[in-house]
Amino acid sequence: MSIAIVTGASSGMGREFVYQISEKYKSIDEIWVIARRVDKLNELAASCNKVKIRPLKYDLSDDADLIRFKLLLFQEKPQVRILVNSAGFGIIGTFEEVSTDNSLMCKVNCVGLTKMMELVIPYMTCKRGNIFNLASSAAFMPQPSFATYAATKSYVLSLSRALNKELKDKNITVTAVCPGPVKTEFFDVAEKHRSVKLYKKLGMSEAKKVVSLALNDGYHGRSVSVYGPVMRAFRILSKLLPHELMLKFIN
Ligand SMILES: NC(=O)c1ccc[n+]([C@@H]2O[C@H](COP(=O)([O-])OP(=O)(O)OC[C@H]3O[C@@H](n4cnc5c(N)ncnc54)[C@H](OP(=O)(O)O)[C@@H]3O)[C@@H](O)[C@H]2O)c1
Repeated sequence: MSIAIVTGASSGMGREFVYQISEKYKSIDEIWVIARRVDKLNELAASCNKVKIRPLKYDLSDDADLIRFKLLLFQEKPQVRILVNSAGFGIIGTFEEVSTDNSLMCKVNCVGLTKMMELVIPYMTCKRGNIFNLASSAAFMPQPSFATYAATKSYVLSLSRALNKELKDKNITVTAVCPGPVKTEFFDVAEKHRSVKLYKKLGMSEAKKVVSLALNDGYHGRSVSVYGPVMRAFRILSKLLPHELMLKFIN
């Protein structure tokens, strides 16, 4: 059985990955979708008629759920063609305001994502495989008042680029998806203490377009997918200019 696994599939870009994979990859028999809100996963399963969807209610910050997932893989022994690590969240605010959510962000965005790859890569035995890790343009440089989130995404970007090289022999492409702000439920969670800056709200991208580009970049073996000219320019500037200077300008 050839499958795709998508975390964070109950909303936003994860859900969009499910729709687009079901349209584009006819050889996939099932998509396993993971999130905490099982009602949303069931809605997704009902609305997707191209492929069988298997909802899995797991919290990626819960070790017991990760053990349950490991057992499921062991029992079913699927061939995983695509893994999408989209589960994640960010909280805007100073480190002190964000408080215990700092370590929870590390747990979900970094540890959960890493654990998913540890568990799934042994089952990626198709002729070729793709892993899509949702990083962010926040990965390109430090971000005061979004500090831990940006740091977790730098981790995802660095890990993905290295694994893309390491897993070449197994024909697995690892793509770090690095969009700027995208219209999803992300900001409903992120604005717990402070609002997002207005210029970010004005330049929001559509999840559909970000995901479509990511799938295309992954298909072509690219290790990084950056949607839109503004974010591409931001990435180049963040490589060329001292970050201290850029931080002065942005703030
Ligand atoms: N939107 C943006 O502006 C933006 C920009 C760059 C990168 N990103 C990244 O893109 C990814 C997807 O975000 P999105 O924009 O699609 O936001 P979203 O609509 O809020 O989706 C986040 C998903 O993560 C899941 N999730 C959160 N915590 C989880 C946990 N502990 N266990 C399992 N699932 C969990 C949520 O499901 P449940 O709540 O049902 O568990 C939800 O399905 C994230 O990693 C985010 O950091 C977002």
